[in-house]
Amino acid sequence: MRFNEKDTNIIKKMIKISKEKPLLPEEFIPWDYKDIGDEVYLSDDLISIAGLEEYDTLSKKQKQELGRLELGQVMYSYAWSETMACAFFNRRLLKIEVHNLEYKFLLRETIEEYRHQSMFCDAVERIDVTPFPPSKIHKWVAKLTIIFAPDSIMFLSVLGIELATDFYGNVLRRDKNIHPVIQKVSVLHHIEEERHILFAKKWLKKYTERAGLIRRSIYAIIVILNLYFMRTMYVRKEIFDKIGLKNTKTLYKRAKKNLAIKFGNLCLSEVNEYVDSFNGWNAFTKYIAKVFLKINI
Ligand SMILES: [Fe+2]
Ligand SMILES: [Fe+2]
Repeated sequence: MRFNEKDTNIIKKMIKISKEKPLLPEEFIPWDYKDIGDEVYLSDDLISIAGLEEYDTLSKKQKQELGRLELGQVMYSYAWSETMACAFFNRRLLKIEVHNLEYKFLLRETIEEYRHQSMFCDAVERIDVTPFPPSKIHKWVAKLTIIFAPDSIMFLSVLGIELATDFYGNVLRRDKNIHPVIQKVSVLHHIEEERHILFAKKWLKKYTERAGLIRRSIYAIIVILNLYFMRTMYVRKEIFDKIGLKNTKTLYKRAKKNLAIKFGNLCLSEVNEYVDSFNGWNAFTKYIAKVFLKINI
């Protein structure tokens, strides 16, 4: 991939920062923080049933427990989706030359993503959760995408996932009540993901700028479906059973709907802005966004 002069300079700068100012989770995260016992693990904006009347009937301890278990799910999905991203980056690296600027950046990005995965695994261990693995459909879609999807679609998919982790992280890093370990995990991730998001957008420019109506629509749909893919990993009925909630089958359905609306509100501006940057919105893609992300463009 060739970049114009301005983008080349920005990418070189990002490589330099990655090398000279690496954020090492071992040093950056206060892993030794002593828990007081009343820490909040997940903001209400991200808890699947917060906002439903069932949530108000929970005790403080139950709310904390629900947040802890759902956070474990979120962290697991981050680690898992970044493993997928790395599988793609390695596939891409095999196709390009070592002296290429893209190669140099992707190598830095891969190093950072592996560090993130290790950090998410440590975070899951730190909050003492055994998360539930992704569904068979999620695994199957992930496998097929990595094997068959073209590089442009893969970059868009990685970008979609990065946007999702980023706006979730924004809520967690800004919430002053969140457990200090989780708060710092979110800060670290936000700083490094900003570079990845910027690079992916620059990489994709060549494709999105020349795309016709159909291609632009496909690109918009890929972004939407990736956000949908991430969101559907967060809510698990097993968690409701575990903390002893009643009618969990119905509650699970309502929780999925409830989180879909909250997730839509959170991702709206970022998704809108990005898809708009390549003129990806039209009646059809707006409809898809409404169905899958519950957002009105
Ligand atoms: Fe990451
Ligand atoms: Fe990333």
